Order: sequence, then structure tokens, then C-alpha cells
Amino acid sequence: MKTTIPRLLLASSALHLGALAYTVRPHQQQQQAIIAAPGFDDDASAPSLPQPPYRDDLLSLHKDLVTIPSISSQETDAGLFLAKYLVKRGWFVDLQVVPPLNINGANSNNTERESKRANVLAFPASARHAVPRLLVTSHIDVVPPYISYSTNSTDGKIDSYTLISGRGSVDAKASVAAQIIAVEELLANNEVSEKDVSFLFVVGEETHGDGMKFFASNLDDRVKFQSVIYGEPTENKLACGHKGMGGGTVHAKGKAGHSGYPWLGKSATELLVRVLVKLVDADLGSSERFGNTTVNIGTIEGGVAANVIPKDASAKLAIRVAAGNQSTGSELVRQKVEQILKETDEDAFTLTWAEGYGPVECECDVDGFETMVANYGTDVPNFKGDHVSYLYGPGSILVAHGDDEALQVRDLEAAVEGYKKLIKHALRD
Ligand SMILES: *[C@@H]1O[C@H](CO)[C@@H](O)[C@H](O)[C@H]1NC(C)=O
Ligand SMILES: *[C@@H]1O[C@H](CO)[C@@H](O)[C@H](O)[C@H]1NC(C)=O
Ligand SMILES: *[C@@H]1O[C@H](CO)[C@@H](O)[C@H](O)[C@H]1NC(C)=O
Ligand SMILES: *[C@@H]1O[C@H](CO)[C@@H](O)[C@H](O)[C@H]1NC(C)=O
Repeated sequence: MKTTIPRLLLASSALHLGALAYTVRPHQQQQQAIIAAPGFDDDASAPSLPQPPYRDDLLSLHKDLVTIPSISSQETDAGLFLAKYLVKRGWFVDLQVVPPLNINGANSNNTERESKRANVLAFPASARHAVPRLLVTSHIDVVPPYISYSTNSTDGKIDSYTLISGRGSVDAKASVAAQIIAVEELLANNEVSEKDVSFLFVVGEETHGDGMKFFASNLDDRVKFQSVIYGEPTENKLACGHKGMGGGTVHAKGKAGHSGYPWLGKSATELLVRVLVKLVDADLGSSERFGNTTVNIGTIEGGVAANVIPKDASAKLAIRVAAGNQSTGSELVRQKVEQILKETDEDAFTLTWAEGYGPVECECDVDGFETMVANYGTDVPNFKGDHVSYLYGPGSILVAHGDDEALQVRDLEAAVEGYKKLIKHALRD
């Protein structure tokens, strides 16, 4: 069923929290802009940076978010926390329940809790009947395993250089916290209008993008956002876009036999290895903005024993697509891969291609931002439409899924300032 904002959700949603809305909290003082370079600074003699008035609010929201585990498919608690947090601060909140995700395949049974995982959608309570021009969005799910929140402060004191660690501390709970504080600052200072802004915090970004896809497919056709700001780790640089994604499984079919008589059989593993080398070396398309298409051979399987000519072999590939556009890029690469398989052995190979997309362009022509191009996937292609997309957020993707996921306080604070600038740009007339 499709409905309009603010009843974007099924009106019967048991988790609807709008009725709990309090009044908007008192306005705060405007603060100084913080300028910080990306990367950790280990120079102990570095001058301390001014502390923005929102530091405590920002750090405590970030800490609460990171402390709640929310590995994809288990986002219920994080969503509820965020909903209550926003309601308390005067937001009108809808929880859009997203169907459970069977990450472990058809055999995994979802608990009742997992079946209440929800996208969190919020509007300033006073403007809940307006159709906002801007959607500020990020995701609340994280990759496994859970890593608890910690800082490297030894005396309990926090300064601009304090390092904050934990799963999601960067990807993307840093974005979520900075976005919320930035929007609240702008509203409090009347720098944007309440009717113009809305939040969407989705589930499932790290796996199938099912949270964003569900939101997009249930949105009323009459709702047209002018701009969408996506929060992902870009080291506080404005992304001009990111590579696309393609890939799938290459199957090689041979003929079994005794290993002493290779000419009587046909080795599937040997064929596979030969074709994989060709694929890695091939020019699968490039572009000035996105560079080269790259191939990751994620898994290889094949054969049954050392002394048997293997009949079957397969490899799973993840291909980062740099050529074509969002709708054509994946297909362009698929055709090139098919061609190479055919040239190598007309009969041996079959390709199972996962649905993919080409390079995704984002708007990055905004004064005052360094720019970058990302090699990872995001929810941007999962929400198609005529809106302008911006991709920006604190922390580095290079630590995002690692054991050392972390960022400094100043990165978070710089992101608040960055989001404020970006939001004002998106809402300029
Ligand atoms: C915490 O780590 C950051 C980044 O490496 C460093 O700049 C800072 O000095 C460290 N703080 C303490 C108290 O060790
Ligand atoms: C899922 O539930 C079904 C029936 O309720 C049960 O037979 C099956 O073993 C369960 N699977 C798992 C992985 O728990
Ligand atoms: C892209 O691939 C070409 C060869 O096909 C190579 O010369 C070039 O260095 C690659 N560029 C990057 C950025 O890796
Ligand atoms: C992508 O490229 C194709 C072919 O060049 C073109 O027809 C199509 O309009 C482009 N789509 C977008 C979204 O730019």
C-alpha cells in the first residue's frame, strides 16, 4: 500500500510513535566552525581545538548508538533507541517495519524481535504535514562482529584528538549522530525551515540494501525530494560518486578421469584458472572519474581429489564497475566477461550474473569541500529518482569494516559542520 508522508508507513504500524512527540527543545547558541584535516594526528603537542557547544550531545548520542549492537537483520533495538531519542527532541517519528532478512539463507528462522526491524523516519513535529524538500539519510546496521565502544582516554577527559573505537563508530553511526546534531543546530538557529527537512535511518545497507529499497518502493509517487544527503565514511570529503557493482559465479565444466592421463579428461580447475587470469588482466572498462573496473576473485572451488581430473570448478567474483552509467555499467562488464569466457572455451563456462549497477554519480560541486571518489557500494542506487544525491560523512572506509574501526572526536565535529554546510547548500533557493 502506498501512502503519503507523514503516513509513509502502513497506517496500522504498531510502532508508530508520532503521538509521543514532545515540544521542540530550546534553541542553542551558534558555534564556531571547526576545520580539521582528515586522518589521525598523533602529535601530542598539537594545539587543542575549540570545543563546540554540542560536543557532549554529539558524543553521547554517538556512544549510545555504537553501544547498541545492530548487525544487519538485528537492528530492532537501534531503531527503537533512535526513535525514542528523536521523539524526545520534538520529532514526529514513524517506524517503517522492514520484512526480515534471511541472511543465513532459507534455513534461518527469524526471531520475533528481528521481525520488528524498522527504518526510522522523522519530521519536525510542527511540520509533519509538509512534504520536505530534503531527506537526510544513513544506515543503522553494521557488519559483524560486534566490537564494544571504547576511547583511548586514560583519565576520562575527552578532547578533539580522543580516538573513539567500536563497531559502527565510523560506518555509519558517526554519520547518523553528526547528521542529527547538524540538523538540530540548523533548526535551532532558524537557518533552515522545519518544513524542509526529514530524516531516514535505514536497516540492511551492509547486506542487500533492503531497508532503502523497501522505503523507495513504498514511497508515494507524489513525494519528490529535491535532494538526498547520504551519510557514509568519506573522510569528510564530498564524494563525486562511487563505482558500480557487478559479478557473480563462473562455473567451469570439464570431464573427469585419471590424473595420469590428462589428455583423456578435461580439467575444470585448469580452465578456470586460465580464464580467471585473463579476467583479472582484461580491460573491463574505465572512465576518467572512476578509474579502472577491478575484479576480486573472492572464492575458488573445484575438484574432488589430487589424483582425479576435476569435472567441476567455480569462482565467485565481485567486480567494481567504472565504465558506463548507473543503468548500463553492469551489463557492459557482463558482456565483456561473457566474451572472454567464450574466447577461452566455447563450451566449458557458464556465468551466473548477480544483478548489478554501474558507476553512481553524486553532486560534488559545492564550495568549501574537498572531493573524492569511492570504490564501495552505498544505498544511493537503491533510491532512484530525480533528486540530487550528495554523499558525505566522517571517518575512513579503510578502517570501517576492520577490527580497528575508529575515528577522532574532531572528525565527528568537522562532520557536523560539513553537514550543516551541505544542508544549507541543498536548501538554497
Ligand atoms: C588517542 O589516539 C589519537 C589518534 O591516534 C591520538 O592523537 C591521541 O593523542 C590519543 N590520546 C591518548 C590520550 O593517548
Ligand atoms: C526453523 O523452523 C522450522 C519449523 O518451525 C524447523 O523445522 C527448523 O529446524 C528451524 N530451522 C532453524 C535453522 O532453526
Ligand atoms: C588502469 O589500467 C591500465 C591498464 O589497463 C593501467 O595502465 C593503469 O595504470 C590502471 N590505472 C589505475 C589507476 O590503476
Ligand atoms: C546511460 O547510457 C545510455 C547509453 O549510453 C543512455 O541511453 C541512458 O540514457 C543513460 N542513462 C543515464 C541514467 O544516464
